[in-house]
Amino acid sequence: MNILVVGSGGREHALVWKLRQSPSVGTLYCAPGNAGIASVATCVPLKATDFQGLLRFVRDKAVDLTVVGPEQPLVMGIVDVFREHGLVVFGPSASASRLEGSKVFAKEFMKRHGIPTARFASFAAGSGRQAEAFIESSSVPLVVKADGLAAGKGVVICQTKAEARIAVQEMLEAKAFGAAGENVVIEEFLEGEEASVFALSDGEHCVTLPCAQDHKRILDGDRGKNTGGMGAYAPAPIMTRELTDRVEKEIIRPTLGGMKEEGAPYRGCLYAGLMITKDGPKVLEYNCRFGDPETQVVVPLIDGDFAMLLKAAASGSLADYTPAFHKASAVCVVMASRGYPDEYETGKAIRGLDSVNVENGEIVFHAGTNRDGNTIITAGGRVLGVTAVGYKHELEATIDAAYRLVHRIAFDGAYYRSDIGKKALKHVKPGKHS
Ligand code: AMP
Ligand code: GLY
Repeated sequence: MNILVVGSGGREHALVWKLRQSPSVGTLYCAPGNAGIASVATCVPLKATDFQGLLRFVRDKAVDLTVVGPEQPLVMGIVDVFREHGLVVFGPSASASRLEGSKVFAKEFMKRHGIPTARFASFAAGSGRQAEAFIESSSVPLVVKADGLAAGKGVVICQTKAEARIAVQEMLEAKAFGAAGENVVIEEFLEGEEASVFALSDGEHCVTLPCAQDHKRILDGDRGKNTGGMGAYAPAPIMTRELTDRVEKEIIRPTLGGMKEEGAPYRGCLYAGLMITKDGPKVLEYNCRFGDPETQVVVPLIDGDFAMLLKAAASGSLADYTPAFHKASAVCVVMASRGYPDEYETGKAIRGLDSVNVENGEIVFHAGTNRDGNTIITAGGRVLGVTAVGYKHELEATIDAAYRLVHRIAFDGAYYRSDIGKKALKHVKPGKHS
């Protein structure tokens, strides 16, 4: 089967890398892709939001399955357009993508279906007074969220009521997030450890993948600004078998069941961003796609034909698919450009990429790169996802392997966290395979 992956980041490189290993895959395309993706797939210069261009391409090249990486085309309805043309596409419809596209929808949905999440209230433009009154009557910290897509920047954690008032004012009145901030959610601050759970669904059945943990803050020790994600590892030892079963029962199945009941069956990857609190797992957010950089550590753990898995989810036959996973661990350290997550530098030559030893489970996923003649140069905030997969090793050894590879790669201004995976180690019993 011929496959088109839509997107251009580290997540798409990981998807393409995994698909390349599937015996059922013929030609693999990626639109628009990046310099790393070009080594495993044919890159096509079409934007992820150019639906008509992508449709024409898929028809011209007899593409059998399209896999959509980023949220924006999903929320804009790429899947609806492709399905109307009788094409097989992996991803949720616009209506199902509201779980990510509107935080107000997601919170109200969880309330309707009794899915555990932080207590909240939502406010529309013009109701600043009511929002202030709500803040006054709440205890801090509080979390203020813009309703729509805001590239990970629409969440403000407020330690004081004054900060919360300012955050709401900026979103509702000053329109700092444009249309995305026309409605806001104000919610209770949850304490605990975060985990990312991906469930692949065909609208009816689902397959839960090994759980991962992201590192969202820019600095070691989870300090500093929020980013798209500075590194990840999987499986996350905090997600014991018992906890994973509980998440499936209390969160994943009620979410999929609820969406079906509401006439928006969820097909694709449902990403539940969880906080594991002392009262159990609660949903921080839903995403309507694979996570980035979690995908870089989750897909290497899948044993079996990944293309068949995605196709089964896209075409409603997941009940016939038996999932299997490697007993392994994976760690991804993101190397970013100086300045990220604010304004960052680009165009720096990357050295050391030829030192990667695939046989040793080393993989470098490209997130923001370009080619300049024979040189690979930086072209994004997050540049590389330097990844190690340990098929025989415990998590600690896989962390060391990832950092050994990081130390062999360099570019001017390269920045990375030095503690990716460290917080998992306290959950790992000595001598036990993670
Ligand atoms: P979101 O985009 O909703 O996942 O928020 C981004 C990040 O903000 C999350 O990964 C958490 O680290 C943090 N966050 C969001 N909501 C809460 C909450 N209610 N309590 C504590 N932290 C939160
Ligand atoms: N790693 C966070 C996200 O993909 O949204």
